[in-house]
Amino acid sequence: MALALRILFAFMAIGSCIAADNIDLWPMPMLVSHGTQKLYVKKDIAMSMVGSVYSDEKAILKDAFQRMVNLITMNHVIDGINRTSLVLTCVNIVVHSPEDELNFGVDESYNLTVPTTGDPLYAQIEAQTVFGALHALQTFGQLCYFDFTSRLIELNSAPWIITDAPRFPYRGLLIDTARHYLPVRIIKGVIDAMTYSKLNVLHWHIVDEQSFPIEIPSYPKLWNGSYSYSERYTMSDAIDIVRYGEKRGVNVLAEIDVPGHARSWGVGYPSLWPSDSCREPLDISNNFTFEVIDGILSGDFSKVFKFKFVHLGGDEVNTSCWTTNY
Ligand SMILES: *[C@@H]1O[C@H](CO)[C@@H](O)[C@H](O)[C@H]1NC(C)=O
Ligand SMILES: *[C@@H]1O[C@H](CO)[C@@H](O)[C@H](O)[C@H]1NC(C)=O
Ligand SMILES: *[C@@H]1O[C@H](CO)[C@@H](O)[C@H](O)[C@H]1NC(C)=O
Ligand SMILES: *[C@@H]1O[C@H](CO)[C@@H](O)[C@H](O)[C@H]1NC(C)=O
Ligand SMILES: *[C@@H]1O[C@H](CO)[C@@H](O)[C@H](O)[C@H]1NC(C)=O
Repeated sequence: MALALRILFAFMAIGSCIAADNIDLWPMPMLVSHGTQKLYVKKDIAMSMVGSVYSDEKAILKDAFQRMVNLITMNHVIDGINRTSLVLTCVNIVVHSPEDELNFGVDESYNLTVPTTGDPLYAQIEAQTVFGALHALQTFGQLCYFDFTSRLIELNSAPWIITDAPRFPYRGLLIDTARHYLPVRIIKGVIDAMTYSKLNVLHWHIVDEQSFPIEIPSYPKLWNGSYSYSERYTMSDAIDIVRYGEKRGVNVLAEIDVPGHARSWGVGYPSLWPSDSCREPLDISNNFTFEVIDGILSGDFSKVFKFKFVHLGGDEVNTSCWTTNY
């Protein structure tokens, strides 16, 4: 125990060394180099884009830039900066292949440089895809520091040269909307939070034994298994969530957990239960079970969820229900 504590303190000491070097970036980019110069960031810092960026991508980047600016200005910022101080006026973004669609394995690499010379002084982002550029904007936002006393935005330890690419193509976070219904607004908040940490897959564990909250148009009684009418997602809610994620570089991985964890399915379609006294797992001797699963996956889900993968659960199947009934 004492040894474990000592090791823990040793790690904490290492941690504070890193903080003392003023690298407060999370997650830590692949390569970082920096200097010692303090810059200021102009209140209405602009964004410019180079290359044949399509209008959709332009809109994605403009929105992302505005969100980043809102975050670093905290609505309190003033423009009281001297002409003599070094002021960053613009972020210039170059996207090499703007037509790429978000999916598993898309190039998320970027380069970000914040120089201390140049007139005007501007930061430079270079990325293969718009999704790498989104990560670069997050990193840029993390370099900015809002001083509540002076009400100026500082960017310390310039010049910065950052080269980054994710170590893992799949960086997920799971939400469970079956045990506890989450309103669409809250799910969008989770997606926003994921972008700060550069996570890129929202694993949406939609249904479970307790509730079936999503609309399946081809089997309209499935969401009879929801907790209530107001604790449901329509197909257009799901489309809304997927689009919201796409604009932020977050894929949505849909999960329906089968054949266990599926009691809620039988509320609307009792023949999915092996028997009335044994309501879980799904009745795999019944063709209807497979028709329903097929209807969900190749029918309704395929129109909404564009990610390369779906998740079929597969955990904790209590097979005694099958052996006692047949
Ligand atoms: C403005 O200029 C004064 C005098 O040169 C200097 O002391 C002060 O730090 C400057 N303020 C900023 C925000 O650059
Ligand atoms: C980042 O810069 C390096 C070195 O100049 C270059 O090889 C690489 O292609 C750049 N990456 C991106 C995403 O532009
Ligand atoms: C399912 O819900 C509908 C109303 O949405 C209702 O008419 C129907 O009786 C319900 N079916 C079952 C099996 O609960
Ligand atoms: C179940 O489906 C299979 C494949 O479509 C079919 O061959 C079989 O006859 C069906 N069984 C019943 C009982 O409907
Ligand atoms: C498995 O299902 C049987 C029959 O429904 C039940 O008696 C038993 O408690 C279940 N086992 C577990 C581990 O849940």
